[in-house]
Amino acid sequence: MVGRVLNGKVALVTGAAGEIGTATIALLAERGARIVAVDRDAQGLARAIRSLPASAEALAITADVTRDDEVASYVEQTVARMGSVDIFFNNAGIEGDIKAIPDYPLDTFRRVLDVNVVGVFLGMKYVLPVMYRQNAGSVINTASIAGLIGSPQIAAYSASKHAVIGLTKSAALECANTNVRVNCVCPGQIDSRMLSSIINGLAPDGQPLPESKVLERTPARRLGLAREVAGVVAFLASDDASYVSGSSYTVDGGRTAS
Ligand SMILES: NC(=O)c1ccc[n+]([C@@H]2O[C@H](COP(=O)([O-])OP(=O)(O)OC[C@H]3O[C@@H](n4cnc5c(N)ncnc54)[C@H](O)[C@@H]3O)[C@@H](O)[C@H]2O)c1
Repeated sequence: MVGRVLNGKVALVTGAAGEIGTATIALLAERGARIVAVDRDAQGLARAIRSLPASAEALAITADVTRDDEVASYVEQTVARMGSVDIFFNNAGIEGDIKAIPDYPLDTFRRVLDVNVVGVFLGMKYVLPVMYRQNAGSVINTASIAGLIGSPQIAAYSASKHAVIGLTKSAALECANTNVRVNCVCPGQIDSRMLSSIINGLAPDGQPLPESKVLERTPARRLGLAREVAGVVAFLASDDASYVSGSSYTVDGGRTAS
């Protein structure tokens, strides 16, 4: 029985106002974790934590993950209020523009790397010292299947997610002599705003692609659900994953299996 296997653990989650972040704080809270939810979208954060149980002692912090001072502050506030950071879901991300490389604006390219790579780096820069002091902790970064395979029209996003996998493996090795683990999840096509934005951007004539076309290369023949990503995050956060570090877990209905 899964039950409340995360009882009392403190879970710090970025991008918590987004679809995967919101589904994950709900599941971690259901399994007993106390929740610190971080996002740059204050209204979205308020919505995301509204239905969490009282046992989650939810704290919402509005912060931009690309800002060194704001990342330092969300980590400090978490420790001050909750006493530890046991689980860190380093998840905030953006898709950027959907354009071929010759047409891709440089400022968007830089922004995608800033949020998806620098944001993930800064999160670990401030959380890992806390976990080292505790000699315990689980970091789960959000990469993507776009970090495992090439993705035309979203080269910046794909490059950023390849970088997240590199950061994950390197951090896991840096943690090797500690009781801290670092892994990442690689979601595939999750039924969400971000997926719609990418699919609509890829449509040649601006018309949404038929679902059959979207699912053509997905063996499961359906989109994934945010809570199916959350389930893998909850596993990696738990002691059931005590020998798992440096791994990239695909949650993609078999999309990258062939
Ligand atoms: N949805 C998918 O199909 C899919 C697939 C693979 C990977 N992912 C990844 O999963 C993660 C979550 O995606 P989602 O589908 O929930 O997207 P989403 O857009 O619903 O959520 C992303 C959240 O990150 C927040 N955010 C963006 N920039 C930020 C910043 N600078 N500082 C703080 N917060 C910021 C946004 O406000 C938003 O709430 C992302 O890293 C994304 O790349 C999503």
